[in-house]
Amino acid sequence: MSEAEDATKVREFWERAAASERDEQGLRPVARDPFLQEAVEAGMERWLDSRAKVADIGCGDGYSTLRFARNVASIVGVDYIPKFVDRARDEARQRGVSNASFRTGNVLDLEPIRAEEGPVDIAISIRCLINLNNWDQQRQGMEQIARTVRPGGLWLVSEGWSGGLRGLNELRKHTTLPPIVAAKYNVLIEREQFEAVATSFFKIEAYINLGFYLVMSRVLQPLVELPYPARHDHPINQLAANLQDGCSDSTLFRDCDYAGIYVLRRNGV
Ligand SMILES: C[S@@+](CC[C@H](N)C(=O)[O-])C[C@H]1O[C@@H](n2cnc3c(N)ncnc32)[C@H](O)[C@@H]1O
Repeated sequence: MSEAEDATKVREFWERAAASERDEQGLRPVARDPFLQEAVEAGMERWLDSRAKVADIGCGDGYSTLRFARNVASIVGVDYIPKFVDRARDEARQRGVSNASFRTGNVLDLEPIRAEEGPVDIAISIRCLINLNNWDQQRQGMEQIARTVRPGGLWLVSEGWSGGLRGLNELRKHTTLPPIVAAKYNVLIEREQFEAVATSFFKIEAYINLGFYLVMSRVLQPLVELPYPARHDHPINQLAANLQDGCSDSTLFRDCDYAGIYVLRRNGV
């Protein structure tokens, strides 16, 4: 399959996903693991500022955007699927959130967003770049985000880190569990490559390590559940997510962390 066909398939996947609020397992298609999503959002929330103008790139249904809206001056959610943008706008209207707006836009070209919104104090991206076809496009997306953040501003980013998935599969090798295979529309990112490009625009201010949660939910819970399949809404995941909060600053299971959050500070002032 060519990359052009890949891109069409990924877009079709998100267009279908945008048509329904929940999938067949009752989970949000944009964030199927509710406890992981909670850990990511809570980790990012601490870096928000009530005076900040924020952009949430690849915002999907806008639920996280609307959560972040409570802690900032204004936020724009951007997604390339118009149906998600419409749904997010409706949700904002229903909840009476007036400082959040939503726009259709592509992370590969954020110029129209910059033209409308100007530079932002904080950019957020949660699992957006992993939908792009290859590292070249991911690097382009990173550059686009960097150009959207004002000097001294922040980029809070949780994507899919390939080393973390390898680490989890190393652990699973010692069990009867099969390896986890990344979703076929996701291109996970090597952290070293990411950091090499990120540090030409940003300083790494912090890294929030989610390895503990991932080991508990992707290794321990599936073992406890055998022969039944693992579940994203399992009480072990909930417990692990609660405990995760206390070990985000440690390096515990960092080699199994495929979803950790980089806090990046834009160069210049
Ligand atoms: C896994 S979902 C995450 C949504 C949201 N960030 C969250 O955490 O709930 C990925 C989102 O990225 C969007 N996306 C994928 N490729 C994109 C692109 N090139 N430009 C903008 N958005 C994109 C998809 O439409 C989808 O809404």
